[in-house]
Amino acid sequence: MHIVHVAVEMAPIAKVGGLGDVVTSLSRAVQDMNHTVDVILPKYDCLNLSSVKNLHYQTSFSLVGTEVKVWFGKVEGVSVYFLEPQNGYFWTGCIYGCPNDGERFNFFCHAALEFLQQYGFRPDIIHCHDWSSAPVAWLFKEHYKNYGLSKARVVFTIHNLEFGAQNIGRAMLNSDKATTVSPTYSKEVSENPVVAPYLYKFHGILNGIDPDIWDPFNDKFIPISYTSENVVEGKRAAKDALQQRLGLKRADLPLVGIITRLTHQKGIHLIKHAIGRTLERNGQIVLLGSAPDPRIQADFVNMANHLHSVHNDRARLCLTFDEPLSHLIYVGADFILVPSIFEPCGLTQLTAMRYGSIPVVRKTGGLYDTVFDVDHDKERAQAQGLEPNGFNFDGADTAGVVYALNRAISAWFDGRNWFNSLCKRVMEQDWSWNRPALDYLELYHAARK
Ligand code: ADP
Ligand code: GLC
Repeated sequence: MHIVHVAVEMAPIAKVGGLGDVVTSLSRAVQDMNHTVDVILPKYDCLNLSSVKNLHYQTSFSLVGTEVKVWFGKVEGVSVYFLEPQNGYFWTGCIYGCPNDGERFNFFCHAALEFLQQYGFRPDIIHCHDWSSAPVAWLFKEHYKNYGLSKARVVFTIHNLEFGAQNIGRAMLNSDKATTVSPTYSKEVSENPVVAPYLYKFHGILNGIDPDIWDPFNDKFIPISYTSENVVEGKRAAKDALQQRLGLKRADLPLVGIITRLTHQKGIHLIKHAIGRTLERNGQIVLLGSAPDPRIQADFVNMANHLHSVHNDRARLCLTFDEPLSHLIYVGADFILVPSIFEPCGLTQLTAMRYGSIPVVRKTGGLYDTVFDVDHDKERAQAQGLEPNGFNFDGADTAGVVYALNRAISAWFDGRNWFNSLCKRVMEQDWSWNRPALDYLELYHAARK
């Protein structure tokens, strides 16, 4: 099969959140199963070009009076066509955040279809993502489905229903199949008016992570390579390196890491409360996060200033986006906390487990589907063929997060052998695309029937 993703994020060259990770890793997984995959992406002026191989100009075409230049390159082994409209839509120094984002991405989607048609592509599946490439679905039905692209079917994935409901509704209507990124989130949104009419073609398929991109045995950002056999040694070296990098001094304490966009979705009040609780329990806290909303960012800057003066040896809030540092935290932390209010899938808990760190999560969306509490979820885990792998909690008040964190920190202090074997166990669980990529292929086939 030939699959073309039309997307506005792609890790590591244009990543804001998990959507970028998924576009790259799902493409690689499906390609590894002997299918042909291309990605079409805007050529932002802020692309991280160091990760694009053999980038070169290919051609140009005109769309409603605007010249669109086409560039080609390889990203993590995936073929990417970069579209650069000469009206400057993507020369703004950012991926999102322009007042005319809707117009910019609408134009991009139109250009992507025009490009495929004019240059003789005959994909079986055109896969678009979230509100930003949703226009592909109805532009295809309105303008392209009777021409050269006629054999193509459109698959639309909702990564987050919070943004762009109007676009999402129109893509739900016009796509042949629609998905979201975990079974539980698909149930949680099933009564939402933009989803409810389309349940007959809507499926929850859990995201995976790319085990080669997130690989403790081959990660240039961590001090020593390790596998589940020497997880304790690997994590200890990273914890030391993290202490040194951030000027912390207590590698002997349980370290709670948080890696997140700082938005309402991620449970800001629970994050704040958990920081306080971790410090009260004589733990260490490292947060890596950035807030698109300047008021939230300012609030965390104040909190950082306070904590860095009162608990200088035990607390660091790094209020930025920093991919290399995120790797060191995934490994150096004992726990990765994800107290989201809602979470369509969540990748940080999966990445944590890949590195042998223990997830502590709120039971929602994909967090519910992937984290099984060591005290409460043995049967639910076994039904999935798994052993329990973390700590979780219900409720959006602070009692829940405190309950889970208390148990996690106590387990660390009280049972080091038990804790180390838990780290080994979570590393051996498979959260890659092995299974979900097959689910996508089945869905692609079904879309073509
Ligand atoms: P979302 O897409 O809702 O932000 P996900 O858990 O699906 O949540 O994906 C977040 C991705 O972004 C993960 O790969 C995570 O490691 C990364 N990430 C989040 N915040 C930061 C940050 N401040 N610095 C580096 N990487 C980050
Ligand atoms: C969205 C969701 C997140 C999901 C990611 C990738 O950003 O917030 O839960 O993991 O998309 O699908």
